[in-house]
Amino acid sequence: MHEYDLTGKVAVVTGAGRGIGSAIAIGYARAGARVCCAARTASEIDATVRQIEAAGGEGLAHAVDVTDRQAVERLFEQVSRVFGGVDVLVANAGGNMATGPIEDSDPEAWQATIAVNLLGVFYCIRAAIPCLQRRGGGTIITLGSGMGHKGRSGHSAYCCAKAALWMLTRVSAQELWESGISVNELIPGPVRTRATQHQGADSVFGIQSEWVKAPEDVVPLALFLATQPAQGPTAQSFSLMRRDN
Ligand SMILES: NC(=O)c1ccc[n+]([C@@H]2O[C@H](COP(=O)([O-])OP(=O)(O)OC[C@H]3O[C@@H](n4cnc5c(N)ncnc54)[C@H](OP(=O)(O)O)[C@@H]3O)[C@@H](O)[C@H]2O)c1
Repeated sequence: MHEYDLTGKVAVVTGAGRGIGSAIAIGYARAGARVCCAARTASEIDATVRQIEAAGGEGLAHAVDVTDRQAVERLFEQVSRVFGGVDVLVANAGGNMATGPIEDSDPEAWQATIAVNLLGVFYCIRAAIPCLQRRGGGTIITLGSGMGHKGRSGHSAYCCAKAALWMLTRVSAQELWESGISVNELIPGPVRTRATQHQGADSVFGIQSEWVKAPEDVVPLALFLATQPAQGPTAQSFSLMRRDN
């Protein structure tokens, strides 16, 4: 048996086409879960599902834009239909589309950053709740950022979105603890993905004592959070960062 056992569980991982989400989806499938891999690019989620199936697991690719509320509702209807329910949501889809000083920032990119990192997660949590309640409980994990707790100049939209996401995590946990649903934030710290490939020495990637990770390094914490008992931690933030940058 796997150290973390998800046998019989169904997980929905958004942003599972690449990077951290893909690694978590594959890690959950290896632990025995059936995993719905959701993102916009069909070829990428199909590739994640192929990796799951090659390892003997069961996956379902579902193309969705998490900023489209009705499409998110259809996602959870489809997973419930195909896999019979949902036990775990990893709200991982996100991105930092608006960089630069506030006075030069593009308002549309600012709104898009809020839309995917905050509204997209809200839509996913909202649609997941009745599914998790029908199973008598479950787990929600949001992908936060140290930037949402401490801020960073030049990243106002992303910092504000992730700060609000941390509040959404806590309020969701407060509303859901009597339903046996835990909601926790996972802060990965710097991870080499497509989203961060241009990060240079002036960012957290350049701080020598920081742990710059591969996506697979985030999987053990994601497994830990998905396998805690119903009375386990909720409304908490779990970080893989080394220092208070
Ligand atoms: N990498 C880091 O250092 C780091 C640090 C802290 C926090 N995080 C957080 O970790 C999460 C994953 O980041 P990553 O670095 O793995 O990013 P990534 O490699 O760019 O992957 C992002 C994933 O999200 C999907 N996605 C983006 N917008 C979407 C939308 N509107 N609807 C559905 N799916 C969408 C992407 O697929 P499509 O484009 O095909 O939709 C992709 O599968 C994000 O929430 C990020 O903020 C990352």
